[in-house]
Amino acid sequence: MRNKLENLKKVDPEIAELIHQEARNEVYNLNMIASENMVSEAVLEAQGCLMTNKYAEGYPYKRYYGGCSFVDRAEELAILRAKELFGAEHVNVQPHSGSQANMAVYMAMLKPGDKIMGLSLCCGGHLTHGSKVNFSGIVYDAIAYKVNRQTQVFDFDELLKIAREHRPKMIVCGASAYPRTIEFDKFRQIASEVGAYLLADIAHIAGLIAAKLHPDPIPYCDFVTTTTHKTLKGPRGGMIMCKKEYANLIDKTIFPGIQGGPLMHIIAAKAVCFKEALTDEFRKYQAQILLNTKVLASELIKHGFNLVSGGTDTHLLLIDLNSKGITGQEAEKALEKAGIIVNKNTIPFDTKTPMVTSGIRLGTPTFTARGMKEEHLQQVACFIAEVLNNIGKEEVYAQVRVKTKELCSKFLMYEDLL
Ligand SMILES: Cc1ncc(COP(=O)(O)O)c(C=O)c1O
Repeated sequence: MRNKLENLKKVDPEIAELIHQEARNEVYNLNMIASENMVSEAVLEAQGCLMTNKYAEGYPYKRYYGGCSFVDRAEELAILRAKELFGAEHVNVQPHSGSQANMAVYMAMLKPGDKIMGLSLCCGGHLTHGSKVNFSGIVYDAIAYKVNRQTQVFDFDELLKIAREHRPKMIVCGASAYPRTIEFDKFRQIASEVGAYLLADIAHIAGLIAAKLHPDPIPYCDFVTTTTHKTLKGPRGGMIMCKKEYANLIDKTIFPGIQGGPLMHIIAAKAVCFKEALTDEFRKYQAQILLNTKVLASELIKHGFNLVSGGTDTHLLLIDLNSKGITGQEAEKALEKAGIIVNKNTIPFDTKTPMVTSGIRLGTPTFTARGMKEEHLQQVACFIAEVLNNIGKEEVYAQVRVKTKELCSKFLMYEDLL
């Protein structure tokens, strides 16, 4: 990277210093947050570029501003590449975030008070799937479904029963903390049976789907939303894919419905991300994520941890800490002191609040982006066990911290910023 922040240092040394500190924080810790990643320097360059200057309300070649020819081309490339990557009939790359992508789909297809059916937050759903503290649960009549209490995976007979009883207008499948394969075909059957639209929110698993390592939602779903910054390894943002028949409605709802000028620098970086995602290297990266997560799961089980649903098919897993007698909050804090960054997370039917929780969520996208492989995951599982079996022992955290820093130092990133 050729960005040593020389200009920024002169203009705003405080922010420049904070960026350096954040770089060291990201590079010298083991980031196991399932929803994060480390973008390529090409993506970083595009999202830091001067396209941020351009107003481009509207869509390529149909703008409300002059001077858009180059940003038109950039957005067109982003759309074409996304279509190639996912095989979608229509793509809108303008949503500023995953939440706004979901909001646009609801607003395009539903009226306030209509019923939506989404996965409960405690079972791994996202806030925008109908949580009472989110617009989706405030504006719409949200029905929550859960995973089966014993197996901790979806029970489609039960889901059908709930759908038949409530007859939602939209069913949302997809999750923020569900470690197993999402069977879009089974959700389709239920949606068709009750006459609901089907929305797949693939924010977490988009990279795996792009690499054809997870079943494809496109043939089964009316709408597919995603973020571009998780497994997809692109800039922070959202995207909507849909059937042609809904294209106009979706586009109108994003702009002028809920957004103003698109973030053209971010759209340029999305185009770069999709180009990278079309390569063999990206497919190998996604395959390695799956391998790494599987190894992490089996090693953690060997160390005596209980995993939600007993394991993982994806880039993430959840540890149920009840048998260890500690909370997710305690585990998150202790692991951070040892240089392992995770997030506390509710587990299905959790009795603790989302600020405390009975679990932690771990993922390997960042880890894998740095080039770490199975043998390193074995080490990490040992580090996690050492810390969580010694809660309160600062000297153990410090010993593990030395080891995590040593491992991170072998896989440096963003070296000009360190
Ligand atoms: C499944 C799912 N959908 C949507 C979102 C929202 O994305 P954003 O944070 O970009 O609004 C997230 C973010 O964590 C998510 O996990």
